[in-house]
Parts: sequence; C-alpha cells; structure tokens
Amino acid sequence: MTPATLDATVLEDLVSAAVAAPSMHNTQPWRFRLRPETHTLEIRAALDRELRAEDPDARGLHLSVGAAAFNLRLAVAHHGWEPVLRLLPDPHEPLLLASVRLAGRRPSPTSAAATAVDGLYDQIWRRHTSRSPFSPRPLPGPLWAELLDAALVEGARLHLPDPDETHRLLALTYEAEARTIADQERREESRRWIRSPADSDLGIPPEALGPHDAEGHLPMRDFSALHPPSSQPAQPFERHPQLAVLATDHDRPADWLRAGLALQHVLLLATRDQVRASLLHQAVEWPDLRWMLRDPRSGPEHVQILIRLGYGPEGAPTPRRAATAALA
Ligand SMILES: Cc1cc2nc3c(=O)[nH]c(=O)nc-3n(C[C@H](O)[C@H](O)[C@H](O)COP(=O)(O)O)c2cc1C
Repeated sequence: MTPATLDATVLEDLVSAAVAAPSMHNTQPWRFRLRPETHTLEIRAALDRELRAEDPDARGLHLSVGAAAFNLRLAVAHHGWEPVLRLLPDPHEPLLLASVRLAGRRPSPTSAAATAVDGLYDQIWRRHTSRSPFSPRPLPGPLWAELLDAALVEGARLHLPDPDETHRLLALTYEAEARTIADQERREESRRWIRSPADSDLGIPPEALGPHDAEGHLPMRDFSALHPPSSQPAQPFERHPQLAVLATDHDRPADWLRAGLALQHVLLLATRDQVRASLLHQAVEWPDLRWMLRDPRSGPEHVQILIRLGYGPEGAPTPRRAATAALA
C-alpha cells in the first residue's frame, strides 16, 4: 500500500489511535484533517473545548495535542509508513499545531525497530489514567532510565525527585488544589467535565475518578469539588509516591507540544511494563506555584506536569469521540 492508497479504514485507524491520547479533563481538544495531495494529516486546536479558567494560555491543550501527535506518529509507523512530524508547521496558522506526513513505506517491517513500534502501539489501547492507590513496590532502575531517555528523545526532560523534593512538590500541589476548590470559576469549569458516558463522549465519567487519600499524602485532583461528594470512601494511598517531573528548557507553544510527545512516550513505555500512572497538573495551573515547582538544582527549566507512577489497578476507560467526528 502506498500513501496514495490510504483508504478510509486506515485513516479511521490512525485518527482513532490519536484520539486515544490523554487530554486535560478529557476535553479532546483536537481536530484532524487529511491533505490527500501531500499525504499529510493535520491536527488543529479545537478552541470550543478550551478550559478558559484552568488553562488560559492553552498550555495544557498543547500538551494534550502533543500526546495525540505522538500516537498518530506511532500509528503511521505501525501501518508501515515513515512518519514525518512537524510542530507548528505554518506560522500563519497558529491553530495548526502539528502535522504528520506519510512519507513512503518503512524499509523493513520485520526489523527490531518495527517490533518496538508495534510493541508500543499496542499500549495505546491499554493505557488509562489510574487514580487508585498504588503499592509500595519501586519501579525498576532500567525502566526509569528508559523513561528519562524517552523524554529526552522528544525534546523534554524527566527528573526523579528525591523524597524531600517529592514532599515539597506534593505540598505545592495541595496548595493549588485548595485554591482551585476555592475559585468558583475554576471549580465550576472542572465540574462541567464530569459527565456520564451515556450523556457525552467527552469529559470524565464518575467511575474513572478515584478515592481521596485517607492519610492526606496525595493531593489527587478533586474534579467535582466535593459536590456531589465523592461516592468512593477515602483510602490510604502509597506513603512514598513515585513522582517524575516533566520539564522543558523553554516555555513556548512548541515546547508544550514537545512535553506532550514526551508525556505520551513515557506513559506508553510505563503501560508496556504494567506500570500505572496518574497526572498531577494542579500546581502548574497557578503561575506562582508553577514557578516554585522548579528545582533550582536542575537549572532554569519550566515544569510542564507531574507524573505519578506505580503498580496498582488499571484505570477505568474514558469515552472518546469517534474518529469520524474528529475529522474535519
Ligand atoms: C495536560 C493534562 C493535564 C491533566 N491533569 C490531570 C490532573 O491534574 N489530575 C488527573 O487526575 N488527571 C489529569 N489528566 C488526565 C486526564 O484527566 C485524562 O487523560 C483524561 O480524562 C482521559 O482519560 P485517560 O487518560 O484514562 O484516557 C491530565 C491530562 C493532561 C493531558
């Protein structure tokens, strides 16, 4: 099959893989368009799904689109083409955030590289955010090393904070959580995205929300801001959470997209090894707290998100819009 014969079924497969990516509040803030003349799939920001109160600069939106672009690039490779990813390919069109060109057949589908692609591709469908307590079992060193490399390959950096630094990051996240709950606009915005799958294929189903931490170590996001109160009784979470800090050297839209690519690369590698993840983004949403999240020892970087990793139950699936609905 050559790009010229990209048929509707393959196109649907590619976009389905892209939309399986994580997005802030499961807003799925993307639209896809095929340019048949150049064999290119374009991803634009869907501004009708912006989070104006919690993500006013659309930084989280760019992370989400970066994660979708990672999946799209992987799916294109899985289907046997060489993917050429460009970020912000047209300076005159700022909503066009990324494009992936299908640049011809990949050389050998039986090579080790192709096996690695297929192994990661399969994780796209298995990955879910898991907001449950994790066990105390540490992640193995070689996996941490692989996650650090994956972030670097995508143009970002992953740091593993020591216990004192982890404590400090969680305290900042607690502060952010308290502020968000006290802020009517933000509280109402996040509540609006808690939706039953029977009503909407966007947003987070109540079943995918986890319990609160009975011992107060882990500031999990309280999406419903206690209204209605969480239906799940509080549970003790792991005493020593294993966090990774995803950061970039600069803080422009292209860096946010790169952070999204890195986030998804890390999450899929973790999923491959049965490691679950949840995200702690609250402190990044308050400029002063975001500034304090940076560790001066790792240089003048910009923190994009905190990733909590560990062993525990698989998260509940969240709905997605059909690929056909995401294609403009
Ligand atoms: C930029 C970004 C920020 C997020 N922030 C949080 C967060 O603070 N707390 C949380 O529990 N989940 C967070 N998530 C996870 C999303 O809620 C989740 O990806 C979405 O609901 C889809 O569910 P899934 O990851 O299981 O496919 C975030 C995701 C992204 C991409």
